[in-house]
Amino acid sequence: MPIVRLDNISRSYKNGQVLIEALKNINLSIEEGEYVSIMGPSGSGKSTLLNIIGCLDKPTSGIYEIAGRRVEKMGDNELADIRNQLLGFVFQSFHLLPDLNALENVELPLIYRGLGGRERRRRSIEALESVGLGQRLYHRPSQLSGGEQQRVAIARAIVGNPKVILADEPTGALDSKTSETIMEIFCKLNKERGITIVQVTHEKSIALYGQRIYHLLDGKIERVENIAG
Ligand SMILES: Nc1ncnc2c1ncn2[C@@H]1O[C@H](COP(=O)(O)OP(=O)(O)OP(=O)(O)O)[C@@H](O)[C@H]1O
Ligand SMILES: [Mg+2]
Repeated sequence: MPIVRLDNISRSYKNGQVLIEALKNINLSIEEGEYVSIMGPSGSGKSTLLNIIGCLDKPTSGIYEIAGRRVEKMGDNELADIRNQLLGFVFQSFHLLPDLNALENVELPLIYRGLGGRERRRRSIEALESVGLGQRLYHRPSQLSGGEQQRVAIARAIVGNPKVILADEPTGALDSKTSETIMEIFCKLNKERGITIVQVTHEKSIALYGQRIYHLLDGKIERVENIAG
């Protein structure tokens, strides 16, 4: 059973009289433990697709199953539970809370899960250590480099043991050396923990870390590229 299965998914927006079809009849299946990339020009529907996969948005039509469960039929609470328990999110601009330190940022998803303080702390420190930030627990985002902030965001994404990490341009704000570090962390999470990774990127060199690239054009999958090795 695929962890993510989209069957004829479309998403359109109505802007006054104008209908924008951001996604048109998307079919794709991602197995647990796969690492896939989504590429395409600006406006081709990459973020729209990732937001649907991440249960942050709902399709206009089509069937979406995550871990065998039908997403279109779920209510807001169930969607929130899926996001909190199955998924981890990483964004281009990190989305950390500026007034919280690294440890507190990472603890947040566990607070929503109702975990006690001691357990939260233990798991958050472990997550930060696993991305090499054991020495930065009490730094606020403004006291960290871009790469370090993104590593905090990754720690926050993995602290709840998600099955899938969804990343929208995770290296878009980083230089190439730092981007490589982030990709090495993704590879490690994928290989060693079997976390499924779905990443959106503009850069071919980043897309190549995946096993497969979905090329989007005008809201459609134009081509699927399998990466050797
Ligand atoms: N909330 C919205 N209302 C109306 N149109 C939208 C909305 N969100 C996205 N769109 C339109 O849907 C299309 C796809 O947008 P999307 O953000 O998915 O593109 P993208 O591939 O992620 O682009 P980029 O590389 O610039 O991030 C665009 O034409 C965009 O203008
Ligand atoms: Mg986008």
